[in-house]
Amino acid sequence: MYRLVYVSTAKKELSTEDIGRILDVSQSNNHERYITGFLAHNGQHFMQALEGEYDEVREIFDRILADDRHESVVQILGETITARAFPDWSMNYFRVDDRSSGAMLIRHDDPVDGLLPQAMPRELLHLFTRFLRIEPLPA
Ligand SMILES: Cc1cc2nc3c(=O)[nH]c(=O)nc-3n(C[C@H](O)[C@H](O)[C@H](O)COP(=O)(O)O)c2cc1C
Repeated sequence: MYRLVYVSTAKKELSTEDIGRILDVSQSNNHERYITGFLAHNGQHFMQALEGEYDEVREIFDRILADDRHESVVQILGETITARAFPDWSMNYFRVDDRSSGAMLIRHDDPVDGLLPQAMPRELLHLFTRFLRIEPLPA
């Protein structure tokens, strides 16, 4: 199996409804392919982990690369894995500091408290924790 992590910049006009549509399609596509992962959003950037069979992950990532709802997509990690970090999530979504979205919330002071899987590899945990602590720049 393979795990890929990338970061990207959300298009400014992206609404909560747009994110909802992305998640609906993702959860259904990923479920079909047994791709699991996690999408984090700080209001300005995305960080996403995708894990599954190599070819499936690359195929989904190609679609994501071509998606014009975000830009500047940069892969920051690609590794062979023997176990999933997010075995139960076809695509879970966390957004920092958006109390209106109805998404699971992460507090800025302790963004991973109880929310990320306990068995997550340390490097991955650090990656997401640090990402989620980045304050978006003023518009
Ligand atoms: C930030 C972001 C994350 C996405 N994550 C996924 C994903 O995990 N799985 C997926 O199938 N599509 C994901 N998409 C959507 C794809 O880019 C694409 O629109 C979708 O896979 C097309 O599906 P369809 O061919 O069934 O219409 C994501 C898009 C964005 C902007």
